Amino acid sequence: MNKEDFSILLQPVDFGKLQLKNRLIVAPLTRMRTDISGIPNDLMAKYYSMRSSYGLIITESSSVSPLSNCFPGAGNIYNQEQMEGWKKVVQQTHEQEGLIGIQVFHCGRSCVSSQINGETPVAPSPIAIRGKDLISNEEYKIPKELSINEIKEIVQQFRKSAELSKQAGFDFIQLHAANGYLVDQFLRDESNKRTDEYGGSIENRCRFLLEIIDQLIDVFTAGRVAIRLSPNDRFNDMYDSNPLELMRYVLSELDKRELAFVELKRDNPYETTVSNNDSPRKHPRELIPDFFRDLRKFYQGNIICNDGVTLQEAKELISQNICHAVSLGTLSISNPDLPIRIQNNYEINYHTDMNTWFYGGAKGYTDYLPYKENNQK
Ligand SMILES: Cc1cc2nc3c(=O)[nH]c(=O)nc-3n(C[C@H](O)[C@H](O)[C@H](O)COP(=O)(O)O)c2cc1C
Repeated sequence: MNKEDFSILLQPVDFGKLQLKNRLIVAPLTRMRTDISGIPNDLMAKYYSMRSSYGLIITESSSVSPLSNCFPGAGNIYNQEQMEGWKKVVQQTHEQEGLIGIQVFHCGRSCVSSQINGETPVAPSPIAIRGKDLISNEEYKIPKELSINEIKEIVQQFRKSAELSKQAGFDFIQLHAANGYLVDQFLRDESNKRTDEYGGSIENRCRFLLEIIDQLIDVFTAGRVAIRLSPNDRFNDMYDSNPLELMRYVLSELDKRELAFVELKRDNPYETTVSNNDSPRKHPRELIPDFFRDLRKFYQGNIICNDGVTLQEAKELISQNICHAVSLGTLSISNPDLPIRIQNNYEINYHTDMNTWFYGGAKGYTDYLPYKENNQK
């Protein structure tokens, strides 16, 4: 039984053109349940629609081109067949009165050649991630530096994916500008050493992101466009020497555009200060001491907070107007019906099996049942 009063998490709220029934959001989660075609299937339609009681559902990161996909088995969005697959996911979710948006992404340097048909990964600058890819266990190689024309082509790939996403009926689209993938690689000064208009100053490093966002707005309208940012996260060997100033600029630019929401993923408090030889790294908390509160000062619009946010912290952040909703990763895996559980004081399942996070079928995917179904068996 949940003794605490979590009713604030169940209050409705409007995000741009989206009317959320509560403040609990399904965080984007790659689960790799398609075959290599990346066409979303019936199992995925079941998985997503089961989560329709959440205020919003954000899908797994969905690739905008074959070169952009480091997750073979994730649902992609660059051709008609994939669009048709997603359409079924959206329809089934809408039938359950859920709201669902697609997270679009390009992995950039964060992939190995075997994941992208033997091609060389691309990036803002020819700097490799140190270490091995967790999925293939292969060493990352030095990526190819994108030319200006290639950057413009990728911006257009995002636009095409937005058009397909709209055709599929998604309620909103989220640009994945976090977690060390291509857009994030442009943002941060350790992975972007360009000397043209896409590198150097903060304004230049944010140009790629804003060009993509403006294309997504053109297709979906601003009130249906969102973004995810994680400026202090070290995943994928990422680092920026001044993420607070970076966010001051990017958030103020995004604020002007009146998006549906910004999702902020914080750093890992247990991060080590591993540095590379040329660039000493500071601890994330030295760079941004109070992540959500510090970034809130730069943004007036709707904010979703993420990463290790407990229900107690969510309540605090929302009541103090630091954010307007929270997104839940692992908790939404094991509780397809979390808002209903909170509303009825049903028990919450805090355990997920990491072995079934990626790949496989229904096990660990659609067999975490809603509380009621589970207790009627
Ligand atoms: C299995 C798994 C897959 C994930 N896939 C994505 C993804 O596709 N896109 C993304 O932005 N974050 C992804 N994440 C990160 C989550 O969205 C979230 O930031 C993380 O789980 C922390 O939130 P939590 O503490 O509520 O679980 C993934 C996390 C997990 C555990």
